[in-house]
Amino acid sequence: MDSSDKPEKFIEYYSGYDEQGRLAGGNIEFVRTQILIERHLPPAPAVVLDVGGAAGRYACWLAELGYEVHLVDPVPRHVEQARDASAAQPDAPIASVRLGDARQLAFDAEVADAVLLLGPLYHLTELADRQRALAEAYRVLKPGGVLFAAGISRFASTEDGLMSGFYRDPAFREIMLNDLEDGQHRNPTGNPAYFTDTFFHHPDELRAEVAGAGFEVAQPFAVEGIGYLMQDFETRWQVEADRTFLLEVIAKTEQEPSLIGISPHILCVGIK
Ligand SMILES: C[S@@+](CC[C@H](N)C(=O)[O-])C[C@H]1O[C@@H](n2cnc3c(N)ncnc32)[C@H](O)[C@@H]1O
Repeated sequence: MDSSDKPEKFIEYYSGYDEQGRLAGGNIEFVRTQILIERHLPPAPAVVLDVGGAAGRYACWLAELGYEVHLVDPVPRHVEQARDASAAQPDAPIASVRLGDARQLAFDAEVADAVLLLGPLYHLTELADRQRALAEAYRVLKPGGVLFAAGISRFASTEDGLMSGFYRDPAFREIMLNDLEDGQHRNPTGNPAYFTDTFFHHPDELRAEVAGAGFEVAQPFAVEGIGYLMQDFETRWQVEADRTFLLEVIAKTEQEPSLIGISPHILCVGIK
């Protein structure tokens, strides 16, 4: 299915989903993504486009660090939430928040020092659409600008199914097995816990797509990495000493090809 034909499906999904709350409370995905972004981002002030920026968690954080951040998202509810979040930090607002699509950005060429694509690439289920989004990111970046392109791992639903017990539902079993075949995640059940129609990348595919758009370095990093292997993760993540040690071992293994796919999220960093 081409997501450009059915934008209403994921808009409907997010209209009933607490995207605002998803990354609240310093969860591992947010913390690790921040670490990877900070490592590669040019120093502030610089222009950052947050494409698929949802409720503005990354945009607000970067605006507070002194960046000029422009957020684009196709879900009206997210745009409203991002505007509210920006208004709540009047000393460091998001520079602009608007409805928009990663495949056709309303920005001039070579205006951005960095582009965050933390979401669109797994929502765009067709390769041609992902290529359009990556081409747009390339167009709006200045030479030397940095792309942060997130993917969901091909193996994420299998791990989630095993860890959460969803695998006991025959419908989710089928979803797991289909995902392992070709990464085309489909959820015919209507259960929002099983996510919406998406594409899950093999780490090598994500790297190839980013490199194929012309980016010079296309380095995939594990985001959560091996983090969920920690015994009693949810409890231990709240304990500073355990969290610090976990972040250290994730960082040491974040580029290990044999382990990247175990990470639910993968972040590919590309330089124009
Ligand atoms: C799971 S959320 C991630 C939000 C945020 N960037 C983050 O990493 O927490 C995925 C986001 O991608 C957005 N999205 C989906 N398709 C898109 C497209 N074609 N262009 C731009 N954004 C898109 C969704 O509306 C949603 O806000």
